[in-house]
Amino acid sequence: MPLPRLHRQNVNVNANVNVNVQNSLGCSGIMQETILSPEKTEKEKISDLQIRPKVFSEFVGQEELKEQLQIFITAAKKRDEHLDHLLFSGPPGLGKTTLAHIVAAELGVVIRATTGPVLERPGDLAAILTNLDEKGVLFIDEIHRLSQIVEETLYSAMEDFVIDVMIGEGVSARSVRLNLKPFTLIGATTRTGLLSSPLRDRFGVVSRLNFYPPDTLAEIVIRSSGVLGIAIDQAGAAEIATRSRGTPRIANRILRRVRDYAQVVADGTITRDVVDCALAMLKIDERGLDELDRMVLDVIVNDFDCGPVGVKTIAISVGEEVRTIEDVVEPYLIQIGFIKRTPQGRVATEVARSSLRRG
Ligand SMILES: Nc1ncnc2c1ncn2[C@@H]1O[C@H](COP(=O)(O)OP(=O)(O)O)[C@@H](O)[C@H]1O
Ligand SMILES: [Mg+2]
Repeated sequence: MPLPRLHRQNVNVNANVNVNVQNSLGCSGIMQETILSPEKTEKEKISDLQIRPKVFSEFVGQEELKEQLQIFITAAKKRDEHLDHLLFSGPPGLGKTTLAHIVAAELGVVIRATTGPVLERPGDLAAILTNLDEKGVLFIDEIHRLSQIVEETLYSAMEDFVIDVMIGEGVSARSVRLNLKPFTLIGATTRTGLLSSPLRDRFGVVSRLNFYPPDTLAEIVIRSSGVLGIAIDQAGAAEIATRSRGTPRIANRILRRVRDYAQVVADGTITRDVVDCALAMLKIDERGLDELDRMVLDVIVNDFDCGPVGVKTIAISVGEEVRTIEDVVEPYLIQIGFIKRTPQGRVATEVARSSLRRG
């Protein structure tokens, strides 16, 4: 489920309607919308299928993690056993879902995908698990949002491949134990901190995906351009990369938007100038920060004198959900050293202060 991004949408739509910036490329206000949200949009789900890497060799970066996974997969296949359960954590858009599918493909098994909030009752989980192939993969996205009772049902499934479900109602209700074929659970979460330790401990491998450095993102942009048949030069790709908040999904999204732009106002090739011009329209600054990021910084620095200020207060001040601030905005601001999380609340650093003064 995409997080609501109402505020950002409102701001951008209002700000961009009828905008007509004049410069050498003749920029015009053709782009609006939520470009920096790492959450997926409906349209993206379709073109995502085209550009989503299908095998490890197409998955750019995260070298250590890929190597580890390839070793585990080869070993499991050699022993003809199921692969240990895997947990991928990290901010949205870094490749958790993609990796889950690649792992299943490399294992040569069918993957079934669901998300934490969809599994309401133990029966929902039982239905999926009993239908899995031997050594198949169950992928649970947003696994930190499982209900307590489903999570507890999962423990025995993960550990002993059995599951207890209640059959019948009222006085005739009884618990039935079902045996499962060995399977691999792959969980994804934006925050491991929200996972209970009994659940976390049942994963054989817990891996964190980090933000991507600009070089790696530029490679991803060039790869995606190739798949989508977009003309782009090296400098154009590098520029998109530095403005993508270390996140492949955002890099791909900017690429698609800049492509529209290149086709309408330039000769179709994405160059650095085209990227600059398009991103000025989208109000994305040279660090990749957008209006919501800047609003959050502004609240901490100016309204609360650099903090500490609680995340709820920040969320209310900018009109966003706490979850969006925590999952989407903060991780990158922390990564670039603009804010810190302290027990008392969020604090802006000197770097953020001086950057806001310049901006
Ligand atoms: N390492 C990578 N190399 C190439 N493309 C990637 C990589 N990681 C992510 N992507 C692209 O970014 C998109 C978002 O990745 P996804 O796996 O859905 O992220 P998450 O599940 O972590 O939110 C994918 O569709 C894919 O096209
Ligand atoms: Mg995902």
